[in-house]
Amino acid sequence: RHKLKHTRLFRSPSNTDDMAEEAKKLAGYAAVDNHVQNNQVVGVGSGSTIVYAVDRLAERVRQEKLNIVCVPTSFQLDVAIDGADEVDAALTLIKGGGGCLTQEKIVASCAKHFIVIADFRKDSSALGQQWKKGVPIEVIPMAYVPVSRTIAKRFGGEAVLRMAVSKAGPVVTDNSNFILDWKFEHIHNWKEVNIAIKMIPGTHTHTHTHTHTHTHWNCCWCSPSYSGL
Ligand code: 5RP
Repeated sequence: RHKLKHTRLFRSPSNTDDMAEEAKKLAGYAAVDNHVQNNQVVGVGSGSTIVYAVDRLAERVRQEKLNIVCVPTSFQLDVAIDGADEVDAALTLIKGGGGCLTQEKIVASCAKHFIVIADFRKDSSALGQQWKKGVPIEVIPMAYVPVSRTIAKRFGGEAVLRMAVSKAGPVVTDNSNFILDWKFEHIHNWKEVNIAIKMIPGTHTHTHTHTHTHTHWNCCWCSPSYSGL
């Protein structure tokens, strides 16, 4: 702000864009230089100004060997990288073994490219061969019984409430929801089943932020034994 205030160039329309870029850079750099220290967790927002802050952050991490964890709040991710529990021949995934499926899916959906990294143990020709625990489905707590019954009735198998290791109660997700692990019996048309499950009240509504999600994604994957993407 100081620099802009004292330059006549700022008032020239032809230079306004350049000056604005310079101002954004100054602001981004100043924020990182004055407020970010080693061993911090930093939220990274969205927009064109934040790009300069990220550039500066990267520079400082390199030069000063800082240990910084960044949490994106942006919908502008270029690449998202994540693991998976099982990958079938059509590159359809089961994810959510760790219970973070909703956030993972949101982050992946915000990225231009989604890369799944998986080792050979997760490679299968049809889902269910490797990951025996079923497809994780995040549900609103009050709905877990009807959702579980509906899934079993419509698609077969059994959708079991995931319990905490201590057995003291159900696993509660970061979104305060429960998880059903659906142990399916037959090979399904995953695209159709995906949509059908999302339509069951309690697993998905278009306006509710505490949605649900059963995770299988068509995507790319790679592993030491598989070089294709
Ligand atoms: C967590 C996930 C994980 O990506 C998935 O469970 C794979 O984990 P790991 O790489 O430890 O085998 O979906 O919800």
